[in-house]
Amino acid sequence: MIETDRGQDRLIETYRKKAKHYDITSRLYPMPGYPHGAQRLRAAQALGLRAGDSVIDIACGTGLNFPLIEEMIGPGGRIIGVDLTDAMLARAHDRIAANGWRNISLVQADAAEFDFPARVDAILSTYAMTQVPECAEVIARGAAALSGNGRWVVLDVKAPDKTPRWITQLGTAVVRPFAAIDEWVMRRPWESIRAAMQEELTDLCWTELFFGSAFLAAGSAKYARRTSS
Ligand SMILES: C[S@@+](CC[C@H](N)C(=O)[O-])C[C@H]1O[C@@H](n2cnc3c(N)ncnc32)[C@H](O)[C@@H]1O
Repeated sequence: MIETDRGQDRLIETYRKKAKHYDITSRLYPMPGYPHGAQRLRAAQALGLRAGDSVIDIACGTGLNFPLIEEMIGPGGRIIGVDLTDAMLARAHDRIAANGWRNISLVQADAAEFDFPARVDAILSTYAMTQVPECAEVIARGAAALSGNGRWVVLDVKAPDKTPRWITQLGTAVVRPFAAIDEWVMRRPWESIRAAMQEELTDLCWTELFFGSAFLAAGSAKYARRTSS
């Protein structure tokens, strides 16, 4: 187990309990029938991947994004899956073995401390970034590591702005096990993510999904900044 001094132990314990059945139970949050599959596909497509590309999946969990990414990058590409929770990575490892993928490596690390390799083609994070207190810093460090045409895509839940209370509850149910929901809603981490992506990337596209209960944010590397450094 990795050392953590940021109060992440509870989060790790929670995901250890969820890991075994995560692929099934995650479909039930925030409600059965929630369009995760369609949202994941949109997120993967927003990466603009080509055969041979390198992709980092931040907080990859059990690797539910891997099949989509693999189909786009092919065996000549490369995926690095990063996650804090050993048990989630163990399921991701099982998925890799079952599919015979040879181009995926897994790293157990806190996203806040992960050392992004230089010149990656794309970074993706799904249903996780609003749980990372240092999300703005992670966005910035990822952006600095992108190749000239690189893309950063974040898909996650948020509290809807102008929708009935029952939809707000649906949108926030997913984070209830990990954080005090009131604190999460008050902190509004999706706004920090949006501001950081606006600052660190170019051509940011922000799309609200499913009555504002989720967002898809996608931006491109600031090429000029990287070539001058
Ligand atoms: C809801 S799951 C999402 C997993 C996967 N991205 C997906 O779309 O199914 C959240 C994941 O984020 C991971 N996580 C939470 N905080 C993290 C952090 N600070 N660094 C790395 N991983 C983190 C958890 O271990 C968990 O696997």
